[in-house]
Parts: sequence; C-alpha cells; structure tokens
Amino acid sequence: MSQLAIISESTVRKIVTRQLAFDAVRSAFEAVADDRAQVFDVVIGTGLNNGEAFAIKSGIDRENEMVGFKCGTYWAGNDDKDLPAHGSTILLLDPETGFPKVLVNASYLNGYRTAAANAVAVSCLARSDATVLGVIGAGHQAEEFRAKSIEENKGKFVLVCEGSIPVKDGGVYCKIAGKPVLDILKETAPKAAAVIAIGSCATWGGVPSAGPNPTGATPVYKILEGTGIPVINIPGCPPNGYNFLSTVLYYVTFNKLPDLDEKLRPKFAYGRLIHENCERRPHFDAGRFAEQFGDEGHLKGYCLYKLGCKGPETFNNCSTLRFNDVGTWPVNTGHPCFGCSEEGVGFTAPLHSPARPLYITPPTQFTSATPEKGKGASALAAAVAGAAAGAGAVAVGMNLGKKDNEES
Ligand code: SF4
Ligand code: F3S
Repeated sequence: MSQLAIISESTVRKIVTRQLAFDAVRSAFEAVADDRAQVFDVVIGTGLNNGEAFAIKSGIDRENEMVGFKCGTYWAGNDDKDLPAHGSTILLLDPETGFPKVLVNASYLNGYRTAAANAVAVSCLARSDATVLGVIGAGHQAEEFRAKSIEENKGKFVLVCEGSIPVKDGGVYCKIAGKPVLDILKETAPKAAAVIAIGSCATWGGVPSAGPNPTGATPVYKILEGTGIPVINIPGCPPNGYNFLSTVLYYVTFNKLPDLDEKLRPKFAYGRLIHENCERRPHFDAGRFAEQFGDEGHLKGYCLYKLGCKGPETFNNCSTLRFNDVGTWPVNTGHPCFGCSEEGVGFTAPLHSPARPLYITPPTQFTSATPEKGKGASALAAAVAGAAAGAGAVAVGMNLGKKDNEES
C-alpha cells in the first residue's frame, strides 16, 4: 500500500501562485469539456448542529490518472471561535488501489481555486476593450463582497433602495441574507453619499403600505428622517428608468443633487402635472370626454377624465418622457393614469373615481399665461377653469399657475 502524503496549509501557501492556479483551473475546464476528465454528482451532508454543512465534490482526470474528491465545509459557529467558517479538505486516491494517497489541507487553496475560476471566466468571456470589471459571488461570498465594497467606497457611492421597509416586529417581514432590510438600511445609508429611493413603495409606501399595512411598510425617507442623509425620491409603479438615470448622472456630473420638491422628488421630472402636457389635453379644455370604455369618445381619443384619469393630480413626466423608448404611456393606450406615483392617489383613490384637479395650469408648450400675483387670472386661465367645471369636475380654484410660481 502506498504511503499517505499529507500537505499542510503552510506548504500549500509556499507552493501555490496565482498563475499556477489559473493554469490548473483552465486546463481542468478544458479537460472536462473534452471528456478527458469528469466530475460527479455533488453529495451534501450536515453536521450535528444547525448551520453546519458540507459538500463532497468528486472527479477523475483520466489523462493524468488522478482520482479524488474535495470536502467543502461550512461551520457557522466557527465565527465565534475566531476561525473561518469555510474549510476545505482534498483527498486524492491511489488510482490502482483506491486507497488514500494525498491529503491536502485545502482551505487556502480553495480560495485560489475560486478566484482562478473567476479569472478564467473573465479572460475567456470579457470583451477585450472592457475597462470595468464586476465579479459578484453568491451566498456568503456576495455578502462579503457587499460589505467590503461599502467599506472601501465609504461616502463615494449612491445607495439605491427599492421596496418599502417593514418596521413592525423588528422588521422581520423582509430579510436579506437573514438580516432585516431595516437594519441593512440603517447600517448602510450613513456610509453612502446619498440615497435614492426608487419606486412608489420605497418613496411613499406604495401597495404594501395600503391599509391595514400589516407589516408596517414605511418609506425610506421616513426611516432616515433626522439623520441628515440626503434622500431623493423617484416614485412610480413603474418609475421611469430615465428619471433614475438622469438623477444619477446629474449627481455624478455636478457632485450635487438636482433641485428637489417638498416630497424630495427631482423637479426636472416631477415639477409638472401629467395633465399639463397630455396629448388629450385639448379635448379636456374643449369639454370632449370619453364617458365609457369603448364608446365613441374613447375611440376618438377624447380626454379620459370621466373614466377616472388622475393626470390632473399626479406630478410626473409620463406624458412627455413616456416609457420603453417606444413612445408609450398609460393614457395613449386608452387607459386613464391612475396616479401610480402620487402618494394619496395611486393605490388609495378608487381607480375610476374622478380626479381632484389641484393645480390646473396651461401646457408648457404655450407662452406663459400665468398672471402676476395680485393681478387676477388671465382669460386662458379662466377658460381652463371653465372647462374643468363643465366636465363635472370638482370646482377648480383661481390659483392657476401656483406650481409655476413655486418652481425655481
Ligand atoms: Fe390627459 Fe387625463 Fe388630463 Fe384628460 S384628464 S387631459 S386624459 S391627463
Ligand atoms: Fe403612473 Fe400615471 Fe404615469 S399611472 S406611469 S403616473 S401616467
């Protein structure tokens, strides 16, 4: 029987180099692809306690006459003993007898193996002109990468939050990697340059916050209130990707946040009512309305106000920016805007109930018809109010142009 050779971790550290690992992994991949080598099904087992598990990965290399397996372990409790949670042991067998031939303490080696596998993938798959590289692991590795990149980029990154934050019962209703997102947000936000809450849920609560709000779904800005951390809201269900991208680019270009309104929304995107630039607006002003889905007015593209369009009380740029680079948005498909981005409107007001026209101003394409303060309303403004009242709308006050005056 051949003698069992034991290779300690310190020996491995002396022998292994990045290039050696890269070349070995690359030839192993090639050998498996050519059928010169083979890997077998993974066997998974557990330890005596929760959080203790191991996986056995075995294979043969016909060309080099090698047979063996690696046992990878994860013992969660090792953290408390100041030991790494992950361990690896390799056992090579004598191909003639099946008896053990080489035993390797391979925890250090395994790290090189994983890194080399990533490097081989990058070298084979990445474009030659690529200048940025992102290598993201899974499971515990992903959490490690996340923590490390946050620490290394402290104050230099924008934290993007999607989804409302459940706060009831310690935040147990939404966890990532076993940790409440409430805790993750509180830990991460102070290290970010700014926080962007994207979508109606993250910005004002959205669907999960609808009564009775069983999980205590809370918008991101409320969690961070009083901390001095800058928060930008990009509401919408869905939010427009260009509004998000423009906000990020603005920050990256000018190193400051864009002007925000009182609800922390960028004014360039949410400064105007949808109604102000809607292509059906001339029909609204002229009192031409769809009364029912499929009726003549609907087929002719008349205003959808009487079908419950919330454009007159929703601040967003859907009517000008539109979605998906194909020029579409809810109203031009024939359905009223339901105010998905506006707190107190979307998911709150009944879908087809009439909107409350808060600020009716002339479309931005027109020369300003806004009266100076104290000089009364213009003829056009009065006509707009008249049309709204003619539509059976709630009475529109003579505060026309209020929003214009508020804009910077
Ligand atoms: Fe457009 Fe709706 Fe306003 Fe009518 S009520 S003009 S459909 S935004
Ligand atoms: Fe939402 Fe109304 Fe725009 S439903 S997507 S805010 S048109």
